[in-house]
Amino acid sequence: MGLSNFLRSQIKRLLLRRGDVALENEVPMLASKFQRLDEFGLYLHIPFCRQICPYCPYNKEIYRPEVAASYVQAVKKEIDIYARLLAGRPVTSFYIGGGTPTTLLPRSGGGPGLSAHNGLDSILQHVFASFNMQCGIHLESHPNDLSKANLSAISSLGVEHLSIGVEALQDWHLRTLHRPYTVTQVRAAVERAVSNGFQCVNADFIFALPGQTYAEVEQAGHALVEMGVDQIAAYPLFQFPYTAMGRAAHGHNHDIGRIFRRRKMLGILERIFYDAGLERTSVWAFTRPGVPRYCSVTVPLYVGLGASGGSYLKDVFYLNTFNVQEYIRALASGRLPIALSLELSAEMQMAGWLYWRLYETRFKKSDFQKRFGQGFDAVYGRYIKPLAVAGLLEDNGDEIVLSDSGAYWLHLVQDLFSLEYVSRLWGTSKQEPWPEEVVL
Ligand SMILES: C[S@@+](CC[C@H](N)C(=O)[O-])C[C@H]1O[C@@H](n2cnc3c(N)ncnc32)[C@H](O)[C@@H]1O
Ligand code: SF4
Repeated sequence: MGLSNFLRSQIKRLLLRRGDVALENEVPMLASKFQRLDEFGLYLHIPFCRQICPYCPYNKEIYRPEVAASYVQAVKKEIDIYARLLAGRPVTSFYIGGGTPTTLLPRSGGGPGLSAHNGLDSILQHVFASFNMQCGIHLESHPNDLSKANLSAISSLGVEHLSIGVEALQDWHLRTLHRPYTVTQVRAAVERAVSNGFQCVNADFIFALPGQTYAEVEQAGHALVEMGVDQIAAYPLFQFPYTAMGRAAHGHNHDIGRIFRRRKMLGILERIFYDAGLERTSVWAFTRPGVPRYCSVTVPLYVGLGASGGSYLKDVFYLNTFNVQEYIRALASGRLPIALSLELSAEMQMAGWLYWRLYETRFKKSDFQKRFGQGFDAVYGRYIKPLAVAGLLEDNGDEIVLSDSGAYWLHLVQDLFSLEYVSRLWGTSKQEPWPEEVVL
């Protein structure tokens, strides 16, 4: 067993007090689960892109207008089913991700006269007519879809938080990543978005690219700040084995040299972002003070719509089929497109809660007590104390705050888990629309 596998199994045993975890092809009894909950987040997945980037692990396929049109109809049917289950309970956050949601904008190309052209507008109207929406919209976008006309269309849909996949700010890195724009073009797109009046514009940036130097990371860090965005999410390049770049890396993701290089690059970026007055708001994100942060993953309970949408309802996690045609087919026959589910034990719920609160870099122990009816220190105190001694976090009585080095080590743990488990779960789900079981 390699070191990565050993660490993974030890952490899993420590937190969950069990070995393997299996997702099964069961559809959970949803009606009773929804009755016990008060409010929800909503996630909508749009699995279309104009081209496929060689590093991207997400569920997506090439945009085809006729498939997108059927997809929009299927999403509306899924909304109808959940509208009955949610029965007017408030929806307090709404994230639209992908893939590239902006492929469904009116003027994004894709052939005349097809209804998917207005797909996003049509889905959003249905969302607002069907659910008790008490929040603004967060939307992921591609830089090539951010013309002035598209930006006003995005604003008029009610989008308040916009995220842009900038990825790199040197032309040769953009070419390595097969991104279809230049630095000049992406800067112009970001500047148009920044002056469009959103509450928060987030730029996604990837570092530790093949052959990237520290000086290039430094230059890109300054350029990101100069563009005037409200938030920067800086991720090291994760190399998922089922992507083209992951296959080329031959599993050398956790080499000591690589780990050291990433740490140093993140340190360079942290210094630039702090000097510019940004604050760390999650392991990856740095946000201007006072701005509501753009983040899609930490909502406590959520329903995921669309192909590969995942839902988390306290004691169950379930995942829709990844296959777009099967997703459309299931909803056409009036069925929910759920492919896999996992009942969550009390330990798993607590470990999940702790992981996401640490991801946000600070949390209150009293919130744990409120949620689980047990004292935080009684459950996790013995793990927290050594981490505080090692300087990875501060224990300020009721509040725990992750330090910069704590954030870095959490990222390593995340990397260790996400590469393996996401690859197993998403890799299998991409190959098999309805897997029998996926063991993690
Ligand atoms: C759904 S995409 C963003 C929207 C749009 N599709 C685009 O590419 O501009 C989500 C973001 O995840 C990040 N991402 C994707 N694959 C990654 C990887 N292998 N390692 C690190 N970050 C990655 C990128 O920053 C990417 O912009
Ligand atoms: S990075 Fe964005 S555009 Fe590229 S394949 Fe992934 S979702 Fe699509």
